[in-house]
Amino acid sequence: MHPEWRRICDEYMQATSYAPEEMDEGWKDRTYDRANRPETYLTYPDAAVRIELGKPDFPDAPSLWSVLEGRRSKRNFLDQPMTLNQLNVLLWATQGVTADMGDYQLRTSPSAGALYPLETYLIVNNVQGLERGLYHLDVRGWALEGLRLEDLRDAGTEALLDQEMCRHSGVNFVWTGVIERCRAKYYERTYRYLWWDSGHVAENLALAATALGLGCTCMGAWYDGLMHELLGIDGVEHVSLLTATVGTIAGEDWLTDRRAPPKDVPS
Ligand SMILES: Cc1cc2nc3c(=O)[nH]c(=O)nc-3n(C[C@H](O)[C@H](O)[C@H](O)COP(=O)(O)O)c2cc1C
Repeated sequence: MHPEWRRICDEYMQATSYAPEEMDEGWKDRTYDRANRPETYLTYPDAAVRIELGKPDFPDAPSLWSVLEGRRSKRNFLDQPMTLNQLNVLLWATQGVTADMGDYQLRTSPSAGALYPLETYLIVNNVQGLERGLYHLDVRGWALEGLRLEDLRDAGTEALLDQEMCRHSGVNFVWTGVIERCRAKYYERTYRYLWWDSGHVAENLALAATALGLGCTCMGAWYDGLMHELLGIDGVEHVSLLTATVGTIAGEDWLTDRRAPPKDVPS
């Protein structure tokens, strides 16, 4: 625990609160220039491999109401592979482009100011047709860019605060934020917006995973430094925001067969 946790929390909230009496003065200099906004799409042209995803094949799904009722954080993964199409459906549910507004595109998940500051990285453990390793989602090209093609089950689980289920999942999602995309408009409230955006994306993932009969747990516990190193991002202008783990599960058995983490982690 940080010895000054209370002060840090309070200062951030106070410094980034809006108050009616400050709005006129504070907002007159806010001239967000959409035409000259920071680049929305990150790609890795030098990626070791590029997997074109194409349009996902959407299976029949349960009703939204039963998906909402059935969503649970499930951790008892089976070490059995997910299909690439299942992963594609999950990616589409979180970041699929669903409307073209001309100079920007809208997606399945909302984003404050339509700024889309998030990036999606995958630590792939067990997905048919994909080598194990680290991938990045090229949203505009709808492709996976393989950045490290090696078994990252140990390194990934370690970075995810040694949460053991992450070793047995099909894939671990890591959402990151490119700060400037959001800061250019939201200034001091940037981090709030980044976290709000990532929460929406994570819930879309949870619901889509439920609809597919997969297990999914959203995770706030990871080692920032280790994760940034693993992803190859600087941890200052481009930071990790939220993570989730997804895999095949043991039927309805999850209540009695939760794969416990090896040590007490914050949940
Ligand atoms: C932002 C967030 C962070 C979480 N972090 C973790 C985590 O690091 N590890 C974990 O096992 N569960 C984590 N959880 C899952 C919660 O423990 C879980 O949602 C809660 O116990 C309620 O259970 P339910 O999701 O099955 O309804 C997290 C959930 C959220 C929304």
